[in-house]
Amino acid sequence: MEFIDLKTQQDRIKDDLERRIKKVLDHGNYIMGPEIFELEEKLETFTSTKHCITVSSGTDALLISLMAIGINPGDEVITTPFTWVSTAEVIALLGAIPVFVDIESSTCNIDQSKIESAVTEKTKAIMPVSLYGQPSDMQEINQIARKYGLIVIEDAAQSFGAKYKEDISCNLSDIGCTSFFPSKPLGCYGDGGAIFTNDENIAQICKEIRLHGAESKHWHTRIGVGGRMDTLQAAIVLSKLEGFPSEIERRLTIGDRYNNFFDSQSIERVKQKEDRTSVFAQYTIFSDHREKLTNHLKQKKIPTAVHYKFPINQSPAYINFCRGKTPVSDEVSTRVLSLPMHPYLTEEDQDMIMKSIKDFSAK
Ligand SMILES: Cc1ncc(COP(=O)(O)O)c(C=O)c1O
Repeated sequence: MEFIDLKTQQDRIKDDLERRIKKVLDHGNYIMGPEIFELEEKLETFTSTKHCITVSSGTDALLISLMAIGINPGDEVITTPFTWVSTAEVIALLGAIPVFVDIESSTCNIDQSKIESAVTEKTKAIMPVSLYGQPSDMQEINQIARKYGLIVIEDAAQSFGAKYKEDISCNLSDIGCTSFFPSKPLGCYGDGGAIFTNDENIAQICKEIRLHGAESKHWHTRIGVGGRMDTLQAAIVLSKLEGFPSEIERRLTIGDRYNNFFDSQSIERVKQKEDRTSVFAQYTIFSDHREKLTNHLKQKKIPTAVHYKFPINQSPAYINFCRGKTPVSDEVSTRVLSLPMHPYLTEEDQDMIMKSIKDFSAK
């Protein structure tokens, strides 16, 4: 059993994948080839956003976005400590200060009720993370941002395809950033990512930063990065995009099955709120005996993972950014355990996983 099974997916799309890769090899436009623009257009349609800018990774999507809105040294960006390091890393890289606000214990997303008291005159942006595939309370977060004139950047690296009220993740705030890292819900076979916005000015600046700050060829009007996505990776995402809506359906079905079972057994899990969906980049439960449960599942050849063992504000490189305490984040980091989750997880495997966890809990 795989934690995330990319092979079954690849077998299903092999012909289309090979056709698209061959096409790139034939035309030879490896950088900013036609597949880049085709993908950007299709992703704009998928998310109903006006602008999609593909980039070299999810991390670079966040970095370029922060650069585009003019984050400077000493500025503060409010975010969650319970995330992959990239979220805080890009803030610190620009000399800005990640201000960590604690999370909700049920969703593991940033607790919007704690954001306003973290706003200072230095605050420039809020960067909520749609953790495990589920958006945060974006409406409330956008309201706080409007009140204080802040920009909201959704770190949607894990939530591409998730719904929040009537909208799709990446189109829930000023800017949305996603990742096409292979294990993400929509992944490529290397590094890749995308920025989404409805703001033409921000889109134009992101495009220029992606290309070393060039307004036109060899004319560099701003400091930029080498942040382009490869044409080959775009071709791979294009191939996967066709089956993506049905893969999301499968993820929802498996997530529901897991949810119903764990609820019936009173096994604690990450909860989803009613006005949104999760695409379950991770399916995560809580356990007070994580190590023992991990070993029990390992004996049954069930792989697991921990997202995340340490909140970012406990990491040595980020400890100086700590202001207040984030006890919820500290606590859940000792209890979270992610289970196998991918669209091709069979019912038989799901049953085996659920039964094994039930047996452990009954001990
Ligand atoms: C929440 C979050 N933010 C940012 C990233 C960075 O994406 P990438 O690995 O494509 O740079 C990831 C990917 O692991 C992530 O999970």
